Amino acid sequence: MKFFVDTADVAAIKELNDLGMVDGVTTNPSLILKSGRDIIEVTKEICDMVEGPVSAEVVAEKAEDMIREGTKLAAIAPNIAIKVPLTWDGLKACRHFSDAGHMVNVTLCFSAAQAILAAKAGATFISPFIGRLDDIHLDGVDLIADIREIYDNYGYETQILAASIRSVNHIIEVGKIGTDVITAPPSVIKSMINHPLTDKGLAQFNEDWAKTGQKIG
Ligand code: E4P
Repeated sequence: MKFFVDTADVAAIKELNDLGMVDGVTTNPSLILKSGRDIIEVTKEICDMVEGPVSAEVVAEKAEDMIREGTKLAAIAPNIAIKVPLTWDGLKACRHFSDAGHMVNVTLCFSAAQAILAAKAGATFISPFIGRLDDIHLDGVDLIADIREIYDNYGYETQILAASIRSVNHIIEVGKIGTDVITAPPSVIKSMINHPLTDKGLAQFNEDWAKTGQKIG
């Protein structure tokens, strides 16, 4: 399972990247707002640090405007994946950039039907938003299973990038289904390490070790 970090917080990306845990990064306009940084500057800084794909999102609505914006974003670094929304204009821009040899991440996917269209438009990544489906009492994990089955049936090469991940359980469930990639906030990735029995076991070992009166090194 590839790990993308869903943030434009450079320090948070660096912390996980130094551990070799970052296979890529996803950003969106809300995350750029949260960073308080200029989109071009912060995206360049991330691209210089991370070897894998770094998604940077267009904000225009018309395909020709998306193509203009995406061309500017793609010029930041060779590892940019241009992120376009799942609209007909977004799919036109996807086809344009895919034909030109760029990576494209088609975002805001909420149905298997949309995911089929993105694959046919040449998307490198499809981003189904599972947390936002859960928010409206639908099952986001089921959507990942549906897309996995359909993509495998037809050999689509578009990678499933499970997005809008809110919990460790989301990561485990989409991993069991066989998502290609997950993108999650650094806080969720870091919380994967938590287990009360690890804490309890460590406390016991420390207590017993103190009783031995020994030192290592
Ligand atoms: C993915 O590319 C999106 O940036 C992100 O996962 C959206 O997550 P949210 O629904 O928690 O905002």
